[in-house]
Amino acid sequence: MAASYFPSDGVWGSLKTSPATIALLSVLAVIGLLSARSKRTDSSKIYDLGGFPMLSAWFFFSQRYDFMCSTFKRTGQKMFRFRVLQHHVVALSGDEGRKVFFTEKNFNMAEGYRILGGPVPRPQDINIRTVEESSRLFVRHVLGLFRKDRLMDVMPHLLEDINRRMDNWGKSGKVDPFKEMHNLVFQMTVRMGTCRELADNPQATARLSELFLLHEESASPISLLLPWLPGRAKQTKEKATQGLFDIVSHYVDLRRKATAQSSDAIDRLIADGYDDATTITYTLGIVFVGVGNTGTTICWILIFLGDKPKWKAKVANEVRALLRGQSNSSDPVHRRFASVPLHAWEEEMPVLDAVLKETMRLTMSGTVLRRNIGCDTFIGHKKIHDSDFVAYSLGDIHLDSDVYPDPLSFDPARFLEEREETNKVSFPFVGWGAGRHPCAGMRAAKLEIKLAIALFFSKFEYDIVDVSGKLPKSLPQPDKNNIQSAKPLPGDTCYLKYERMDNF
Ligand code: HEM
Repeated sequence: MAASYFPSDGVWGSLKTSPATIALLSVLAVIGLLSARSKRTDSSKIYDLGGFPMLSAWFFFSQRYDFMCSTFKRTGQKMFRFRVLQHHVVALSGDEGRKVFFTEKNFNMAEGYRILGGPVPRPQDINIRTVEESSRLFVRHVLGLFRKDRLMDVMPHLLEDINRRMDNWGKSGKVDPFKEMHNLVFQMTVRMGTCRELADNPQATARLSELFLLHEESASPISLLLPWLPGRAKQTKEKATQGLFDIVSHYVDLRRKATAQSSDAIDRLIADGYDDATTITYTLGIVFVGVGNTGTTICWILIFLGDKPKWKAKVANEVRALLRGQSNSSDPVHRRFASVPLHAWEEEMPVLDAVLKETMRLTMSGTVLRRNIGCDTFIGHKKIHDSDFVAYSLGDIHLDSDVYPDPLSFDPARFLEEREETNKVSFPFVGWGAGRHPCAGMRAAKLEIKLAIALFFSKFEYDIVDVSGKLPKSLPQPDKNNIQSAKPLPGDTCYLKYERMDNF
């Protein structure tokens, strides 16, 4: 999801909270909840949490998934309303709520994330004005970048990038997937979303990645709630934003002065007549929407498969079948993958597609956001006021046991066959968004994930191990409250222990 518009996702990020703050908040929570009891409303109105706007805001930013889930459970409602500072937010759940959330034309996505969304670098944070930045044009740029012909052109370069990084791991060892896959996906995103001069410069790409992580780290509930508040978080965010803009600005300048145009992303923006600030903003937008979810999804796929030998073997067989009949078998494997046509990656990997969907179902618990703009909107007889924000937690459907029996178990087979439970609801799977705003980067993200998994499987045997190199007692779990990315819960660190295979 994207830059100033979407969640990186405004939803998958756990923000650091001190024990003293937790104690204070717990006391306030009790007072707030007691006062909420007196706020019950008649059946035509949306249940209002009441309490202190600062308190609900805090929970919404620091423990969003738990806040949404526990409030629905506690109140027994399908909708509830609360305040984040001066703003009203309506949380939706259930079939009707989800349908309206994704299809209502008054629900504006860009406005939803502008105020309540996650940390993304914005030009205005460092006093830069863009001439014509808009979410609609950004989406158009993304869709243009990931057309079939462009993906086919870039695929061999992506495979070279992955191969080079995996070869650096050596013959055997242990890596933190959340670090290594981040680096790998960062490289692929820079390759697809910027220009080859930057993608071919390892130092500049590494610096960009450092600044990306610094920007991500600058997010705390306070800095998201009160972004204008002077302090360390604000300074760090500005420093990171300035650094990101400076690096990309250098390459925009370089490409503007180039004598020949290429089909690279920055050149496309220049050719479309965008000013420098907008070109930089869209370029960073691609990096911020592209990296987080794609990288963590690859990690969770490897973790779940590491725990399920049957599915691991099925994926390996599918990858092997892709290579069968492809060019010269004496070529290095990444070159052989490069000659597999795009449609085979897209259409002939049903097992990996099901594994991917099941992984996303279990790990994507973010909250998507909108703002109701233009007029009051009704769900049944309940009114969502003009200017209210609207929030929907993806876990509401992805972990619903009526739709996905035994919802916490990893079972890709649920997506390999028609199931009655999923047919009876609207939008049973919303991992790629749905309705008016499906993910514009889905095609590229799926390809990146498949290329990374295929190359990894063709090179290595692996196990999931803990910090001491032993098989873990239990699998790591995604931190559902993390509003930046679906990383494991703090302390749930795991590693990929790998060994190079001679033959695949
Ligand atoms: C595994 C990786 C990804 C996942 C799980 C993912 C998921 C999503 C979801 C759930 C939405 C809908 C958000 C909402 O309804 O509020 C969305 C929208 C979007 N995504 Fe992705 N995304 C991924 C990768 C990417 C990549 C690589 C890009 C581009 C580089 C991208 C660009 C976008 C854009 C531009 C939108 C907004 C579309 C619109 O406004 O109509 N995404 N994505």
